[in-house]
Parts: sequence; structure tokens; C-alpha cells
Amino acid sequence: MPVDGVAMTAIGVAVIRARESERPDRLYDDPQAAAFVTAARAGFEPDRWARVEAVADQFYEGRTIGVHLVDERFRAAIAAGLRQIVVLGAGLDTRAYRMALPPDTHVYEIDLPELFAFKEPVLAATAATPTCHRHVVIADLRDDWRKSLLSAGFDPSAPTYWVDEGSLGYLNQDWNQRVVRTLTELSAPGSRFGAARYVVDPDAPQYRDLRRLVAGDNAPDPAPAPSTPDFDAQAWLEDIGWSTEFHSWNDMTADLPRPAGTLDPRIGNIAAIRR
Ligand SMILES: C[S@@+](CC[C@H](N)C(=O)[O-])C[C@H]1O[C@@H](n2cnc3c(N)ncnc32)[C@H](O)[C@@H]1O
Repeated sequence: MPVDGVAMTAIGVAVIRARESERPDRLYDDPQAAAFVTAARAGFEPDRWARVEAVADQFYEGRTIGVHLVDERFRAAIAAGLRQIVVLGAGLDTRAYRMALPPDTHVYEIDLPELFAFKEPVLAATAATPTCHRHVVIADLRDDWRKSLLSAGFDPSAPTYWVDEGSLGYLNQDWNQRVVRTLTELSAPGSRFGAARYVVDPDAPQYRDLRRLVAGDNAPDPAPAPSTPDFDAQAWLEDIGWSTEFHSWNDMTADLPRPAGTLDPRIGNIAAIRR
């Protein structure tokens, strides 16, 4: 049970997906999210759990719409004929179960050992079965995850949809650029990748609360990750072999049946296709 460290951030997102799934006007249904939340709650001290829920509340509105947008990208990748999907920092993602993906689809979920030590028993207890081939890849994205992915059966000659949903951040640091260089090498032409472009104040209260929770209560107050605000992720992706298109949050959410707020027009998703 990851009660602190990066793996626990996945529990916060499960809280968000469980909440969304209970709404009559839900944007998606993730029936297993509630099972993760129930199992996780039992492992937390009550006041620490209350803080997890408070942080999830602060992020709920934007993050839950983000889940829906990634669902749409999954559907688009499948409609385009892709049958190999790699979820980077998959956390408690259950799209292999809940999205009726075609049976010849292979979904590779990469995350840390402590995450899967929690996730797999909860999934087993729900007795649900994936609609496609699901592969658990226990690996640290800061180490040699390529080897682990290949040994799990990943086929570099098939086009792949690479999913980063809140795990790589801004692509402006060495480690996440290394991840993207590796996935670029593993990408057959026609592969897809989506990179988020944010404009956030890392000192805003919700980011400070999240960092404190992740660091654990006995750790000193953590500093935000150093950022290089003028790093141009889109130009960089073009340089390393991707054709890109930027879609702003405001455009992507314009037709949603729920107000999504108007954000800085630089915030959105860089949709990339491997040349
Ligand atoms: C904010 S959660 C998002 C999880 C999932 N993508 C979702 O949207 O529900 C970030 C995830 O990235 C994983 N993660 C962070 N650093 C990682 C690393 N170095 N290697 C593998 N996974 C990592 C964490 O364990 C966590 O599950």
C-alpha cells in the first residue's frame, strides 16, 4: 500500500475516477476505481486519508475531464488501427477492462513495484477480466524500462499509442526527456504520443499540498521541481522525429456537456505522430 511516494498519487486519481463514476452525468464509468479507494482507505491513517481526499477535491474538476479526453484519444488510436498501447506510469488505470478495447489489443502498463503490489490483488478480488491482452510491466522509468517492456512482449515494429497521463510532467527535465527519447526509438512510423502542455504555478496551494503528501509527513517541506518555462516541448518533439499538432484545453473542451473553465490558451495537448 503506497501511503507516500509517487505511487500514492495514483490513489488520488482513483478517488477522482470513483467520484466521477457515481455521477448520473458521468463522463466515463470506472467501476474498479471504488474498489481501489476502499482498499486504499483501509491502509491510511484517517487524517492522512482526509488529506488525500482534500487534494483530490482540489484537482477534481480539471483532472476528471482530462481522463475523459484521454479516453477519447484511446478510441481515436483504436479507430486508426493501432493495437499496441503503452501506459507510462499507469497507476490504477483500468482502461484494459473498462473501455471494451478489441481483443487483439495489447495494453502494457508500466509502473513501480509498490504500485502493482497494491493494484493486482485488488483487481483480482474484483474478478473482472480485461477485454484485451493486459501486460503488467514492473519498471522504473528512470532506469532501463526498455528491456522490461521488450521482455513483456512489446513489438517495436508495430505502431504504438504511448499514453502519458500525469506521469512525465513538462518534458523539460533530463529524466523525462530520456523516457521520450527511448519511446521514440521504440516507435514504428504512425505511432502516437500525447504530451501535456501546462502553465502552472508550482507554488499554488494544491501543488504544495500534493508535494507534502507525496513526500510523507516526516520529510522536510519539498521544493517544486526546477522548471525551465521557456522549454518548447513541441519543437523538441518535432526535432526528434514526430509530427505534432497542438490542441488547446479550451478547444478540446468546447463541446463538453460540462463547463470546463477557460484556461490560458497555451495549456493543452501536443498530439504527436511518429514520422
Ligand atoms: C499521478 S499518477 C497517474 C497515474 C495514471 N496515469 C492515472 O492517470 O491514473 C503517476 C503515476 O506515475 C508512476 N510513476 C512515477 N514515477 C515513476 C517512475 N519513475 N517509474 C514508473 N512509474 C512512475 C506513479 O507510481 C503513479 O502511478
